Amino acid sequence: MSGQQIRKVAVIGAGLMGHGIAQVSAQVAGYEVALLDVKQEFVDRGMSMVRDSLARFVSKGALDGQKADAVLARIRPTTDMKSALEGAQLVIEAATEDPKLKLELYRRVSDHLAPGAILASNTSSISITLLASATTSPDNVAGMHFFNPPQLMPLVELIRGAKTSDATIETIRGVAKQMGKETVLCKKDSPGFIVNRILVPALNEATLLVNEGVADPEDIDKAITLGLNWPMGPLKLLDYVGLDTALGISEVFMSELEDSKYRPSPLLKRMVRAGLLGRKSGKGFYEWGSPSSTKAK
Ligand code: CAA
Ligand code: NAD
Repeated sequence: MSGQQIRKVAVIGAGLMGHGIAQVSAQVAGYEVALLDVKQEFVDRGMSMVRDSLARFVSKGALDGQKADAVLARIRPTTDMKSALEGAQLVIEAATEDPKLKLELYRRVSDHLAPGAILASNTSSISITLLASATTSPDNVAGMHFFNPPQLMPLVELIRGAKTSDATIETIRGVAKQMGKETVLCKKDSPGFIVNRILVPALNEATLLVNEGVADPEDIDKAITLGLNWPMGPLKLLDYVGLDTALGISEVFMSELEDSKYRPSPLLKRMVRAGLLGRKSGKGFYEWGSPSSTKAK
């Protein structure tokens, strides 16, 4: 089944993922983009991350300065949901990983969606079927799970909810291709899909090793970068991803998969309560300069 033509995309959430998805939509796919968040300071921070990332491409000659300006001009930051969603054929939701927050958001988004528009969630773990149940067109709801940083990571997992139509899957497959991404299809929206079902328990296990005093964070990361050839060790990756997001995913695993092996570690919970979220808050297992940093200090 052929998918629909996309020209305008609205991205909800201007955080670590939303800013990058908005950038790829404008830079690689050439779409007009509205970038929505709840406060002006959050959309400003998102746009500043887009500018930093574009500057990196320009500085190494991968993008010319005028094209970078054109990308920026194609992204319209806003805090107004109605104007963000107006005329958008595709909405990509990248708001905080919290089922309650997303359900409330989906109810509101459903009221403003253009007829026939697709609503794709970048959720890391939450059931697409559940999110779709809060809308009036569950056949138009699917998962489009990007990886961090979206500007560089080549994969998008496509997730089919119980009522997702074939046409919706074909459209988002085409969108991912237009964005220069490879795709895999998750035929069921099982918690964490493919990658996070494997990754997040491993990240949680690394925090248990710290909690048990088995090794220091630096040595755990050194062991995994040199022993398994990961680009970042698990604790640095937790900082990079956001400890609050990892905790949110673990909590979904615990409640949906009902197995104590997914229980988030006490250290992960303590650090989130203390605001030690990683690079987005400036400190986690390591110190970070800014949310755009790829290197801990
Ligand atoms: N925009 C543009 N360019 C960027 C960038 C960005 N946001 N971030 C990094 N770069 C560029 C840098 O400019 C640099 O370019 P050159 O090599 O040409 O100079 C290059 O990427 C490498 O960056 P750094 O030298 O700063 O750092 P690095 O070598 O450690 O690479 C990384 C950074 C690509 C993030 C790499 O560390 C990496 O791949 N880490 C693992 C990422 C990962 O596993 N992501 C998945 C997380 S799980 C997930 O996303 C799912 C979920 O639901 C939680
Ligand atoms: P983040 O905390 O960096 O950003 C979330 C943004 O959503 C914040 O700016 C917040 O203000 C905004 N937001 C919250 N409620 C909103 C609402 N009602 N309307 C508009 N904006 C709202 O989080 P993130 O890392 O960008 O994660 C976003 C989503 O992407 C989550 O579902 C997460 O699981 C998923 N994800 C994260 C990663 C990662 O590595 N961090 C990777 C893949 C997928």
